[in-house]
Amino acid sequence: MKIKLAKSYGFCFGVKRAIEIAEKSNGAVTYGELIHNPLEIKRLKNDYNVGYVENLEEIDTPKIIIRTHGITKDDRKKLESQGKELIDATCPFVTKPQEIVKEMSQKGYDIILFGDINHPEVKGVKSYSQNQNRTFVVLNASELKNIKLKEKIAVIAQTTRKVSEFLKIVDFLIENHKEVRVFNTICNATFENQDAVKILAKEADVMIIIGGKNSSNTKQLYLIAKENCNDSYLIENEDELKLEWFRNKNLCGVSAGASTPEWLIQNIIKKIKQIKDDDE
Ligand code: F3S
Repeated sequence: MKIKLAKSYGFCFGVKRAIEIAEKSNGAVTYGELIHNPLEIKRLKNDYNVGYVENLEEIDTPKIIIRTHGITKDDRKKLESQGKELIDATCPFVTKPQEIVKEMSQKGYDIILFGDINHPEVKGVKSYSQNQNRTFVVLNASELKNIKLKEKIAVIAQTTRKVSEFLKIVDFLIENHKEVRVFNTICNATFENQDAVKILAKEADVMIIIGGKNSSNTKQLYLIAKENCNDSYLIENEDELKLEWFRNKNLCGVSAGASTPEWLIQNIIKKIKQIKDDDE
């Protein structure tokens, strides 16, 4: 069986940058997980003493790293008022939608934010709106039918959402409203990884997608793989691999989310080869 990696996969610019910042931080803590990958979080703790806390109240170190997904405006203010040193690892592609939401809401536009309302990035971006009552988070175009919108609308997306669904939302808004300002805030890494997984899944007999099960972009990759290759699996580590997935298969495609480290991907590829060799 041949194993082929997607043309574009794994660590993106924002995650690489955040990890470098964390490694240099010398024992700071992050508020929330720095990135959505439990094994990498563990490595940062063991090798660089970078921990994380879930609640602001638990922070007892003077230095705080702000995670790639960013935090809400209120949380930032609270930390600043406590005199904490903030080390900002927010991905610049996340800072951008925060600025857009602030500016367009100030200008009186209704805001449509395409994303998951429970995701930290979306909570952070939404918090920058100057008019919370006119800022709507939606997961798909059909949710828009229940919202009475004004004529001036700005639409933006969570950085890791599926491009095809964003286009449906934009189409619906343009068809039904006079002035729609579209901000494509889906980041390039997401575009490239999604495109590459689609191409590979079409030719592969089995697809392995590696990443944190709490990672939004990994889940999107898995869904695209599954649409194009029925035998697609999402795993976090090599212990989850099963021999039967690879029986009678000629080509195994591999991709990984933007917060999946290269060392983990290589370990998993090695394990897939070993499983196959042991079976033959
Ligand atoms: Fe940033 Fe895009 Fe990565 S938003 S954290 S470069 S997936």
